[in-house]
Amino acid sequence: MTNKVLILILLSGLLFSLTLDRIKTDLKWPAPIQKKTAYYSETSFELGRALFYDPLLSVDSSISCSSCHLSYTSFAHVDHPTSHGIANRIGKRNAPGLYNLAWRQDFHWDGGVQTLTGQALNPLTHPDEMGETLENILLKLNQHKRYLSFFKRIYKQNVIETWMLLDALQQFTLALVSDDSYYDKVQQNKGHFSVQQAQGQKLFEQYCNRCHEAPLFFSNRFESNGITILSNDLGRFEITGSESDKGKFRIPSLRNITHTLPYMHDGRLRSLKEVLRHYGQQLKLDDSQQKDLIAFLKTLTDSTFLSNPRFQYHTLTPKP
Ligand code: HEC
Ligand code: HEC
Repeated sequence: MTNKVLILILLSGLLFSLTLDRIKTDLKWPAPIQKKTAYYSETSFELGRALFYDPLLSVDSSISCSSCHLSYTSFAHVDHPTSHGIANRIGKRNAPGLYNLAWRQDFHWDGGVQTLTGQALNPLTHPDEMGETLENILLKLNQHKRYLSFFKRIYKQNVIETWMLLDALQQFTLALVSDDSYYDKVQQNKGHFSVQQAQGQKLFEQYCNRCHEAPLFFSNRFESNGITILSNDLGRFEITGSESDKGKFRIPSLRNITHTLPYMHDGRLRSLKEVLRHYGQQLKLDDSQQKDLIAFLKTLTDSTFLSNPRFQYHTLTPKP
């Protein structure tokens, strides 16, 4: 390994740990719930990223994780109310944005998955998503020289196994942290809200924050926000079987909300205007209050995150 390469690797590692430290110091975020595994390194992040962008993981090499989770829309699937997998098969739920997952207790709209590491089993094998068997995926990866050498380097074994694939994927998804919106700058006294944004923030604190709690703008609970229950998806009830959970869904984060349309678990609302009209009817908010709330929600967009080249597709460069 040349000195230059070594310095680059050390520097990128340093930058990354600085990013995580910044959250703890400046922004007073709570401690993450999902923890880094023992295999965490810049190399495992790169491997996870390559896998995330690789359609090889699907049954007909047509769909990668990034087909439904696009970096420039905060890893949501913009314009697709519900997910769109192999052979144009349509799922029943909207693909959520992927960011700040380290602070989530449960995953999926119904909280049916408890760990980020285990989550990837679902899309990989789901018949409407990537539709592949684990056996085949491992076969393909073990025959792939470059993947094999990366896996060997990280996991110190000669054969790639399922747990390594899942570990590598979560190295990437866990690293997706969005904490640099205009709202965050205001919190750090590096900017000021306009009168309208400040009015929106007041309304937000009054009506929304108890569920979409700052600074993450979600809470690890299941609630109903009053949208009509449709019988093909009863949400949390499908996991717990408890009557009181009928029609309850996880509370989504509102960071980058300008980019993750359409909205709700089934993508039934197409714009923030429609979302605010819904809440407006429930909470008796007039037009100008709805506009103020939207002005505040727009300050949660983190363009640094949305255009971060680190989170976009890169080829897996062999390491000396
Ligand atoms: C066909 C579209 C599609 C593909 C491909 C896909 N996903 Fe998803 N993803 C979804 C949908 C839809 C959900 C929500 C599922 C639910 O709530 O039941 C989701 C949920 C998730 C979540 C949970 C997010 C949260 O906040 O609860 C993670 C993490 C995730 N996907 C990662 C991945 C990874 C990693 C891959 C590739 C191995 C992948 N996805 C492939 C559509 C897709
Ligand atoms: C009682 C808890 C609760 C309150 C209060 C609440 N929400 Fe929600 N919100 C939710 C839940 C739960 C969902 C997801 C519902 C679903 O998908 O069926 C949601 C969804 C959303 C979405 C769509 C997010 C996405 O990714 O699809 C937006 C935007 C939103 N809420 C904004 C607001 C605003 C603005 C307020 C205040 C006016 C508010 N919420 C108050 C619980 C709440």
